[in-house]
Amino acid sequence: MVLYQDSSVAHKSEQLPGKSFFTSTVNKVGSDVLGCNASYYSMNVACLASMKMKNRKEKKVDDSLAEMTQIVLPNDTNMLGHLLGGTLMHWIDLIGAVVANRHCRSLVVTAAMEGLDFHSPICLGHLAILKGRMHFSGTSSMEVGVEVYSEDTLSGKHAHTSSAILTYVAVDAKGQPVPVPGLSVTGDEESTRFREAMKRRERRLKRLKENKKF
Ligand SMILES: CC(C)(COP(=O)(O)OP(=O)(O)OC[C@H]1O[C@@H](n2cnc3c(N)ncnc32)[C@H](O)[C@@H]1OP(=O)(O)O)[C@@H](O)C(=O)NCCC(=O)NCCS
Repeated sequence: MVLYQDSSVAHKSEQLPGKSFFTSTVNKVGSDVLGCNASYYSMNVACLASMKMKNRKEKKVDDSLAEMTQIVLPNDTNMLGHLLGGTLMHWIDLIGAVVANRHCRSLVVTAAMEGLDFHSPICLGHLAILKGRMHFSGTSSMEVGVEVYSEDTLSGKHAHTSSAILTYVAVDAKGQPVPVPGLSVTGDEESTRFREAMKRRERRLKRLKENKKF
């Protein structure tokens, strides 16, 4: 087990001892993750002393996987008979929220949607199949990846049509952020996704900070 502390979170932890840490357990590939992200993370031995950190619940990626299938009906299409982008974004947001909720079992709000690409259309009468998975969990935020596939109902042919990355924040009944479980990742694919998500988080936080200046 390897514990990491994000520098941006370390700052917060000074204000809320033991509450604002985030951890990730990286089985087998911990040293690889640390090696590739030396500029993003510093392994903080002090965090091992934090009993709340050590006791923090962790969940696996598999615990929150979600899949949703929709039939593309006439009301969902544009003049070309293709699924409307806005409708697909709505479905993506819904399945992403299901994943985030399964991970934290709290109320969640969408904080950001990014990296949304439409590679090819989904036609009237075909199926839209959405698959969501956790990439990363922070203190109260979670990054979820959603992939969309089409299925031709007559031929059975599948195609990967879209992908998106969303950030959700777990909140209490007053809309205030609350801590989420850590994410335990196993294998190359999950750890690569985790690593990439951490880089995106750094960029996102930088962008948010810059936007707040205006
Ligand atoms: C998302 C929201 C709860 C964050 O509240 P906040 O007071 O800014 O909270 P903080 O600054 O303490 O940030 C809390 C977490 O959210 C993350 N966050 C905040 N804004 C974010 C954004 N735009 N993109 C990605 N992450 C964001 C922070 O990085 C932090 O993550 P961490 O806890 O893992 O470190 C708040 O901005 C909000 O309610 N936004 C509106 C959400 C909404 O209406 N969505 C559409 C309907 S669901």
